[in-house]
Amino acid sequence: MELFQRPRRLRSSATIRKLVKETHITVDDLLYPLFVVEGSGIKNEIPSMPGVYHLSLDNYLRELEEVQEAGIPGVLLFGVPDHKDEVGSGAYRADGIVQKALREGKKRFPDLLFVADVCLCEYTSHGHCGIVKNGRILNDPSVELLVKTSVSYAEAGADVIAPSDMMDGRIGAIRAALEQQSFEDKLIMAYSAKYASAFYGPFREAAHSEPSFGDRKTYQMDYANGKEAIREVELDITEGADIVMVKPALAYLDVIKNVSGRVNVPVAAYNVSGEYSMIKAAALKGWLDEKAAVLETLTAIKRAGAKIIITYFAKQLAEWIKS
Ligand code: PBG
Repeated sequence: MELFQRPRRLRSSATIRKLVKETHITVDDLLYPLFVVEGSGIKNEIPSMPGVYHLSLDNYLRELEEVQEAGIPGVLLFGVPDHKDEVGSGAYRADGIVQKALREGKKRFPDLLFVADVCLCEYTSHGHCGIVKNGRILNDPSVELLVKTSVSYAEAGADVIAPSDMMDGRIGAIRAALEQQSFEDKLIMAYSAKYASAFYGPFREAAHSEPSFGDRKTYQMDYANGKEAIREVELDITEGADIVMVKPALAYLDVIKNVSGRVNVPVAAYNVSGEYSMIKAAALKGWLDEKAAVLETLTAIKRAGAKIIITYFAKQLAEWIKS
């Protein structure tokens, strides 16, 4: 039999390519992470993340204006506190840096979605995501503090609570506390399949959250494991998560694909700091076309099945899409 298969017909003009294009990335898909610090007049670039800044509240409010202007649905807030202690009390103080950012931000920009990352590592003197005793990271006492932090963020105006600690049972405990305190409308976006990854390096410089001893491998997942992601995601949904996340994104496209095929809630993927910095560094050296590389990688994350993409490129991407 003679074959006349010519796949190139579907690529032969810009018009036909437009017609058959399967995956479109839009500004609607994006969340933009921001780092807030105490003080005023501060806008310090994070050395390992060009284009990403520590922002004091005044500059943070200016940034929110640009985010809203760009049509980005929301921001993911990280606090970098002045003081750290053993129990991360800066995370759940009513006047903590994220609480202040939530109150101010929500007041001025009620239509933006405020997502609060819930973790202790930025607030603990040892840099771990939970309470430490005899060199071990305790689960249930850490969950208690994560619950306290979540309720405090809800009170301050967070729309979405996003626990990134990876303690067992925290989603159920946070959901129960939110229900009890009449915060039943608050969403939970769970960092469900969060892997112990080398790609968080630049973030830890940004958030000053490098653990002072050991690593995060007793709570974050082993990158060799795919099935475990399904288990974590299913547990979080059962416990009350509205959105589940896979993190990082690029080395975990298979996990995003498997998870999104399995569950009926929106899947988010976190295009993490190291993924950002790799492209930035190569682009600064002139080794990569930044815009092309970003569009390709973010489209791949969406193609794999993520509806929501958390990315430090959000503002730039919004500009590129517009132009
Ligand atoms: C806090 C947290 C981390 C990131 C998000 N929340 C760092 C970590 O777990 O060490 C990483 C984000 C990034 O790398 O962009 N636990």
